[in-house]
Amino acid sequence: MELKKAVGIEAAKYIEDGMVVGLGTGSTAYYFVEEIGRRVKEEHLNVTGVTTSTRTKEQAESLGIPLKSVDEVERIAITVDGADEISKDFQGIKGGGGALLIEKIVANNSDQVIWIVDQSKMVDELGAFPLPIEVIKYGSQHIFNQLKAKGYNPEFRTNQDGSRYLTDEENYIIDLHMGKITDPLSLGNELIEMVGVVEHGLFLNRVNRVLVGTDEGVKDIKV
Ligand code: A5P
Repeated sequence: MELKKAVGIEAAKYIEDGMVVGLGTGSTAYYFVEEIGRRVKEEHLNVTGVTTSTRTKEQAESLGIPLKSVDEVERIAITVDGADEISKDFQGIKGGGGALLIEKIVANNSDQVIWIVDQSKMVDELGAFPLPIEVIKYGSQHIFNQLKAKGYNPEFRTNQDGSRYLTDEENYIIDLHMGKITDPLSLGNELIEMVGVVEHGLFLNRVNRVLVGTDEGVKDIKV
Protein backbone atom coordinates (compact mmCIF):
# COMPACT_ATOMS: atom_id res chain seq x y z
CA MET A 1 0.00 0.00 0.00
CA GLU A 2 2.66 2.51 1.11
CA LEU A 3 4.97 1.61 -1.80
CA LYS A 4 2.13 2.08 -4.28
CA LYS A 5 1.25 5.42 -2.74
CA ALA A 6 4.88 6.58 -2.84
CA VAL A 7 5.25 5.90 -6.58
CA GLY A 8 1.86 7.46 -7.32
CA ILE A 9 2.89 10.69 -5.61
CA GLU A 10 6.37 10.63 -7.20
CA ALA A 11 4.92 10.22 -10.71
CA ALA A 12 2.67 13.25 -10.22
CA LYS A 13 5.83 15.40 -9.99
CA TYR A 14 6.33 14.88 -13.72
CA ILE A 15 3.00 16.56 -14.48
CA GLU A 16 3.16 20.25 -15.37
CA ASP A 17 0.64 23.00 -15.97
CA GLY A 18 -1.14 22.78 -19.31
CA MET A 19 -0.47 19.07 -19.91
CA VAL A 20 -2.92 16.51 -21.23
CA VAL A 21 -2.40 13.54 -18.90
CA GLY A 22 -3.34 9.88 -19.35
CA LEU A 23 -4.78 8.52 -16.12
CA GLY A 24 -4.16 4.79 -15.65
CA THR A 25 -6.22 2.13 -13.90
CA GLY A 26 -5.59 -0.03 -10.85
CA SER A 27 -4.66 0.19 -7.20
CA THR A 28 -1.33 1.97 -7.88
CA ALA A 29 -2.60 4.41 -10.53
CA TYR A 30 -5.32 5.26 -7.99
CA TYR A 31 -2.77 7.13 -5.85
CA PHE A 32 -1.45 9.02 -8.85
CA VAL A 33 -4.96 10.16 -9.76
CA GLU A 34 -5.58 11.11 -6.15
CA GLU A 35 -2.41 13.24 -6.08
CA ILE A 36 -3.34 14.95 -9.37
CA GLY A 37 -6.74 15.69 -7.84
CA ARG A 38 -5.05 17.19 -4.79
CA ARG A 39 -2.80 19.38 -6.95
CA VAL A 40 -5.75 20.55 -9.07
CA LYS A 41 -7.60 21.57 -5.93
CA GLU A 42 -4.78 22.94 -3.78
CA GLU A 43 -2.23 24.17 -6.33
CA HIS A 44 -4.69 25.06 -9.11
CA LEU A 45 -2.79 22.76 -11.46
CA ASN A 46 -4.30 23.15 -14.91
CA VAL A 47 -4.44 19.75 -16.63
CA THR A 48 -6.79 17.76 -18.81
CA GLY A 49 -7.12 14.07 -17.97
CA VAL A 50 -7.80 11.21 -20.37
CA THR A 51 -9.00 8.22 -18.40
CA THR A 52 -8.39 4.53 -19.15
CA SER A 53 -11.50 3.00 -17.54
CA THR A 54 -14.91 3.75 -16.09
CA ARG A 55 -13.43 3.27 -12.62
CA THR A 56 -10.74 5.90 -13.15
CA LYS A 57 -13.25 8.23 -14.81
CA GLU A 58 -15.46 8.09 -11.73
CA GLN A 59 -12.50 8.74 -9.43
CA ALA A 60 -11.20 11.64 -11.54
CA GLU A 61 -14.64 13.22 -11.79
CA SER A 62 -15.11 12.99 -8.04
CA LEU A 63 -11.80 14.85 -7.60
CA GLY A 64 -12.75 17.59 -10.04
CA ILE A 65 -10.07 16.79 -12.64
CA PRO A 66 -11.19 18.17 -16.05
CA LEU A 67 -11.51 15.30 -18.54
CA LYS A 68 -11.64 14.70 -22.27
CA SER A 69 -11.88 11.54 -24.32
CA VAL A 70 -8.83 10.40 -26.30
CA ASP A 71 -10.54 11.50 -29.51
CA GLU A 72 -10.99 15.05 -28.26
CA VAL A 73 -7.27 15.68 -27.76
CA GLU A 74 -4.43 16.01 -30.28
CA ARG A 75 -1.92 14.16 -28.17
CA ILE A 76 -1.37 13.11 -24.57
CA ALA A 77 1.84 14.46 -23.03
CA ILE A 78 2.33 11.82 -20.31
CA THR A 79 0.37 8.73 -19.31
CA VAL A 80 0.95 7.24 -15.89
CA ASP A 81 -0.31 3.70 -15.35
CA GLY A 82 0.36 0.58 -13.30
CA ALA A 83 1.54 -2.79 -14.59
CA ASP A 84 1.16 -6.40 -13.53
CA GLU A 85 4.66 -7.57 -14.49
CA ILE A 86 7.72 -5.81 -15.89
CA SER A 87 10.64 -7.84 -17.22
CA LYS A 88 14.32 -6.92 -17.05
CA ASP A 89 14.11 -5.48 -20.57
CA PHE A 90 11.07 -3.39 -19.60
CA GLN A 91 8.39 -5.31 -21.45
CA GLY A 92 5.13 -5.51 -19.55
CA ILE A 93 1.95 -7.40 -18.88
CA LYS A 94 -1.09 -5.26 -18.14
CA GLY A 95 -4.80 -5.89 -17.85
CA GLY A 96 -5.07 -7.61 -14.49
CA GLY A 97 -7.75 -5.02 -13.80
CA GLY A 98 -9.38 -5.62 -17.19
CA ALA A 99 -8.69 -2.21 -18.75
CA LEU A 100 -5.96 -3.27 -21.20
CA LEU A 101 -7.66 -2.14 -24.41
CA ILE A 102 -8.27 1.47 -23.43
CA GLU A 103 -4.96 1.54 -21.55
CA LYS A 104 -3.14 0.56 -24.74
CA ILE A 105 -5.03 3.07 -26.89
CA VAL A 106 -4.20 5.85 -24.43
CA ALA A 107 -0.55 4.73 -24.17
CA ASN A 108 -0.22 4.62 -27.97
CA ASN A 109 -1.33 8.25 -28.19
CA SER A 110 1.05 9.48 -25.50
CA ASP A 111 4.43 11.17 -25.96
CA GLN A 112 5.67 9.56 -22.75
CA VAL A 113 4.50 6.58 -20.72
CA ILE A 114 5.44 6.14 -17.06
CA TRP A 115 4.69 2.89 -15.24
CA ILE A 116 4.38 2.92 -11.48
CA VAL A 117 4.77 -0.34 -9.57
CA ASP A 118 5.89 -1.78 -6.29
CA GLN A 119 8.98 -3.99 -6.32
CA SER A 120 6.92 -7.22 -6.48
CA LYS A 121 6.07 -6.48 -10.15
CA MET A 122 9.69 -6.58 -11.35
CA VAL A 123 10.47 -10.04 -12.76
CA ASP A 124 13.24 -11.77 -14.72
CA GLU A 125 10.86 -13.07 -17.35
CA LEU A 126 7.16 -12.43 -18.10
CA GLY A 127 4.46 -15.06 -17.72
CA ALA A 128 3.97 -15.98 -14.07
CA PHE A 129 1.13 -13.44 -14.09
CA PRO A 130 -1.74 -14.61 -16.34
CA LEU A 131 -1.72 -12.80 -19.68
CA PRO A 132 -5.14 -11.24 -20.40
CA ILE A 133 -6.63 -11.21 -23.88
CA GLU A 134 -9.74 -9.21 -24.72
CA VAL A 135 -12.02 -11.02 -27.17
CA ILE A 136 -15.41 -10.21 -28.64
CA LYS A 137 -18.16 -12.49 -27.34
CA TYR A 138 -19.13 -13.95 -30.70
CA GLY A 139 -16.89 -16.89 -31.50
CA SER A 140 -15.00 -16.60 -28.23
CA GLN A 141 -15.45 -20.29 -27.42
CA HIS A 142 -13.54 -21.13 -30.60
CA ILE A 143 -10.73 -18.75 -29.72
CA PHE A 144 -10.62 -20.40 -26.30
CA ASN A 145 -10.40 -23.85 -27.94
CA GLN A 146 -7.59 -22.72 -30.24
CA LEU A 147 -5.64 -21.26 -27.32
CA LYS A 148 -6.13 -24.49 -25.40
CA ALA A 149 -4.87 -26.54 -28.35
CA LYS A 150 -1.76 -24.37 -28.44
CA GLY A 151 -1.12 -25.28 -24.78
CA TYR A 152 -1.61 -21.74 -23.48
CA ASN A 153 -3.86 -22.77 -20.54
CA PRO A 154 -6.71 -20.32 -21.21
CA GLU A 155 -9.39 -19.43 -18.68
CA PHE A 156 -12.40 -17.16 -19.17
CA ARG A 157 -12.30 -14.44 -16.54
CA THR A 158 -15.34 -14.56 -14.27
CA ASN A 159 -16.93 -12.38 -11.62
CA GLN A 160 -17.38 -13.51 -8.01
CA ASP A 161 -20.86 -14.86 -8.83
CA GLY A 162 -19.40 -17.04 -11.59
CA SER A 163 -20.76 -14.95 -14.48
CA ARG A 164 -18.37 -13.96 -17.27
CA TYR A 165 -16.40 -10.77 -16.64
CA LEU A 166 -17.22 -8.00 -19.11
CA THR A 167 -14.82 -5.21 -20.01
CA ASP A 168 -15.89 -1.56 -20.37
CA GLU A 169 -16.40 -2.35 -24.07
CA GLU A 170 -18.57 -5.37 -23.19
CA ASN A 171 -16.03 -7.93 -24.34
CA TYR A 172 -14.79 -11.06 -22.55
CA ILE A 173 -11.33 -11.59 -21.13
CA ILE A 174 -9.45 -14.85 -21.50
CA ASP A 175 -6.44 -15.17 -19.18
CA LEU A 176 -3.53 -17.29 -20.38
CA HIS A 177 -1.67 -19.17 -17.66
CA MET A 178 1.57 -19.61 -19.54
CA GLY A 179 4.08 -19.72 -16.72
CA LYS A 180 6.83 -18.36 -18.93
CA ILE A 181 6.75 -16.15 -22.00
CA THR A 182 10.09 -16.52 -23.73
CA ASP A 183 9.32 -14.52 -26.89
CA PRO A 184 6.70 -11.83 -26.07
CA LEU A 185 6.97 -10.15 -29.48
CA SER A 186 6.08 -13.21 -31.52
CA LEU A 187 3.40 -14.26 -29.01
CA GLY A 188 1.83 -10.81 -29.28
CA ASN A 189 1.81 -11.02 -33.08
CA GLU A 190 0.32 -14.50 -32.99
CA LEU A 191 -2.49 -13.45 -30.63
CA ILE A 192 -3.46 -10.27 -32.46
CA GLU A 193 -3.78 -12.20 -35.71
CA MET A 194 -6.55 -14.40 -34.27
CA VAL A 195 -9.86 -13.07 -35.57
CA GLY A 196 -12.03 -11.99 -32.66
CA VAL A 197 -9.07 -11.01 -30.45
CA VAL A 198 -9.41 -7.29 -29.84
CA GLU A 199 -6.18 -6.79 -27.88
CA HIS A 200 -3.72 -8.57 -25.61
CA GLY A 201 -2.04 -7.46 -22.42
CA LEU A 202 1.54 -7.53 -23.68
CA PHE A 203 2.76 -3.93 -23.69
CA LEU A 204 5.98 -4.11 -25.67
CA ASN A 205 8.51 -1.31 -26.23
CA ARG A 206 5.97 1.12 -24.88
CA VAL A 207 7.34 2.54 -21.63
CA ASN A 208 9.72 5.49 -21.20
CA ARG A 209 10.15 5.53 -17.45
CA VAL A 210 9.47 3.11 -14.60
CA LEU A 211 9.08 4.18 -10.99
CA VAL A 212 9.55 1.24 -8.63
CA GLY A 213 8.53 1.44 -5.00
CA THR A 214 11.14 -0.38 -2.90
CA ASP A 215 11.84 -0.63 0.83
CA GLU A 216 14.78 1.74 0.22
CA GLY A 217 12.64 4.33 -1.56
CA VAL A 218 11.42 5.04 -5.09
CA LYS A 219 13.74 3.89 -7.87
CA ASP A 220 13.37 6.08 -10.98
CA ILE A 221 14.45 4.17 -14.10
CA LYS A 222 14.64 5.90 -17.48
CA VAL A 223 14.16 3.28 -20.18
C1 A5P B 1 -5.57 -2.56 -15.35
O1 A5P B 1 -6.19 -3.15 -16.41
C2 A5P B 1 -4.16 -3.01 -15.27
O2 A5P B 1 -3.43 -2.94 -16.44
C3 A5P B 1 -3.43 -2.34 -14.13
O3 A5P B 1 -2.77 -1.21 -14.55
C4 A5P B 1 -2.48 -3.30 -13.61
O4 A5P B 1 -3.21 -4.47 -13.40
C5 A5P B 1 -1.83 -2.87 -12.31
O5 A5P B 1 -2.77 -2.80 -11.30
P1 A5P B 1 -2.37 -2.67 -9.78
O6 A5P B 1 -1.64 -1.39 -9.64
O7 A5P B 1 -3.68 -2.67 -9.04
O8 A5P B 1 -1.55 -3.86 -9.44
